[in-house]
Amino acid sequence: MHLLIPAAGSGRRMGSDRNKLLLPVQGKSIFAWTLLAVEAAKTIEWIGVVGQPHDFEDFRAIVAELALTKPVVFIPGGKTRQESVYEGLKALPEVASHVLIHDGARCLATADLLDRCTASLETVDGMIAAISVKDTIKVVDSDLMIQDTPDRSNLWAAQTPQGFRVDLLKQCHAEAVLKGWEVTDDAALFEKCGLPVKIVPGEETNLKVTTPVDMTIAAFILGDRSALL
Ligand code: C5P
Repeated sequence: MHLLIPAAGSGRRMGSDRNKLLLPVQGKSIFAWTLLAVEAAKTIEWIGVVGQPHDFEDFRAIVAELALTKPVVFIPGGKTRQESVYEGLKALPEVASHVLIHDGARCLATADLLDRCTASLETVDGMIAAISVKDTIKVVDSDLMIQDTPDRSNLWAAQTPQGFRVDLLKQCHAEAVLKGWEVTDDAALFEKCGLPVKIVPGEETNLKVTTPVDMTIAAFILGDRSALL
């Protein structure tokens, strides 16, 4: 399986002046922890890192230090995650029929989850890891007045990996450019194109490191795992 890592974001919501993926947690960068899970996944054979060129030197140093056995290719990203993924798709080798996309910021995903996502693509053209929501979700207007309370039993929180047939996802990205669609994950593009997307049970610990409190939680979970090794 070919895997793309969108890693071209910034550290804005983290309050950092550099890419948050370069920040350390439990002795390694967020980016390094993500790469280690991908390296450990039996089904992943090729890694495409989509980043901002100014981060490539740091990314290359991290890849070299981890001595990964899998090929890693660096691809210049775009202004949004959506643009970055599209650039990554265009850079995939011709032989890639399917692709997994996994956010660099989700450094707690396990190799087992990545392998389960790969396996699911044997029977579906589009999938995402997701978990059922625990909180009651409110839909609000711009004045924070509640407009709706959707039935929680139907609500799932999207994670990555997300996996797709490459030809179909590329078509959806091309259509999005033409129609000006802006989405925050790839499943949303598949959905907008009327294509089915299946959920694979994700992991409660697979959080996206976004704000400083996520760093504290990630450090705790990774520390706990290291203690088990
Ligand atoms: O900002 P957020 O954490 O939601 O971004 C999700 C993932 O998308 C991160 O791994 C980030 O590096 C990546 N991203 C990207 N290109 C952008 C913005 C975000 O690859 N322009």
